[in-house]
Amino acid sequence: MTSFPARDGNDAVLQKISTPMTGAAIFLVVTINSAEADAAAVRSLCADLAALVRSVGFRDPTSALSCVLGFGSEAWDRLFVGAPRPLELHPFREFHADARHAIATPGDLLFHIRAERLDLCFNLAALIMERLCNSVVVADEVQGFQYYDNRDLLGFVDGTENPEDREAIDAILIGAEDPAYAGGSYVIVQKYLHDLVGWNALPIEAQERIIGRKKLENTELDDAVKPSYAHNALTTIVENGQEMKILRENRPFGQPGQGEFGTYFIGYARSPRTIEQMLENMFIGRPPGNYDRLLDFSRAVTGVLFFVPTGTFLDNLGADDPAPDAASEEGSAQHVSPVRDGSLRIGSLKGKLS
Ligand code: HEM
Repeated sequence: MTSFPARDGNDAVLQKISTPMTGAAIFLVVTINSAEADAAAVRSLCADLAALVRSVGFRDPTSALSCVLGFGSEAWDRLFVGAPRPLELHPFREFHADARHAIATPGDLLFHIRAERLDLCFNLAALIMERLCNSVVVADEVQGFQYYDNRDLLGFVDGTENPEDREAIDAILIGAEDPAYAGGSYVIVQKYLHDLVGWNALPIEAQERIIGRKKLENTELDDAVKPSYAHNALTTIVENGQEMKILRENRPFGQPGQGEFGTYFIGYARSPRTIEQMLENMFIGRPPGNYDRLLDFSRAVTGVLFFVPTGTFLDNLGADDPAPDAASEEGSAQHVSPVRDGSLRIGSLKGKLS
């Protein structure tokens, strides 16, 4: 049985954050109703989530069904009374300049469901909602798909510069900076709607300067010709000489009949500060005013920050157990219990966290 060594020396099952890009995804964001029974229903679902994923996913293992569950800032306090707070969990930080607005919207739980086949994602989302329908209100539900060679609806390949292997672990998993939640992560979601008519009216060379890459070949523009406002320039963050990476699993979505064309942005990081810095650079500009021209053609209509605990944390929850961590050392996040199924739960990534 293979185990995953967590940073504090204990073994934890991690949620399956880093997977190869899949053909389909569902992004389900809900708010929890106000009664204690509603919170209890959510905790009970958390404990059963891995079993639900197995029930659906095992019927076609080649589809690689997965589901990552995240918790919003207010929901955390309600659901896990007495448990320590993830150190960097807070409401989504808004950014506003001229017509550009990174807006904050409601969201207590995020279910990030991925598989090669949409029917498996759909089936899992239906089972989750069957369990929660009386206890939550759906804030947003988006079905995303793979568009050709992982292109967004603007026509550019999206996801190329994602970190892999050891670099991905370092970029997305919390470590010694918050030992209670080592092996967890943060995720920011934003739903963007595109003005495709306006975008497609631009010459391709202008589009390439906005993204910072060649449209057909997907190669990066040479520094000599790449503007400082290029998307991939403004989202490159260097701290103490080291590039701060995030893991993006964006998916296109839309309804052509309604004139709706969008990108669902989803970014995982070890600290939300990295993504917030990218958002500040995009919306306010670096320096201020030198903003991301992608935003002249793309409008953010949602924005939420979630904390993603380990799978072990979820497995240990029960409906009547609002503070599993405070209750016993055995169930504590500081004392993560052993891997149950031997899975690394982070796709192909292996490594010792430090
Ligand atoms: C309308 C929404 C968005 C679209 C269509 C979009 C599209 C793209 C594309 C086409 C690339 C180049 C290829 C790649 O490396 O993936 C890219 C890169 C990137 N994007 Fe976005 N993006 C969007 C929003 C965001 C947001 C909100 C963030 C962060 C807050 C972000 C962070 C990044 C990063 C970190 C890179 C890699 C830069 C590099 O290292 O070269 N993107 N994006």
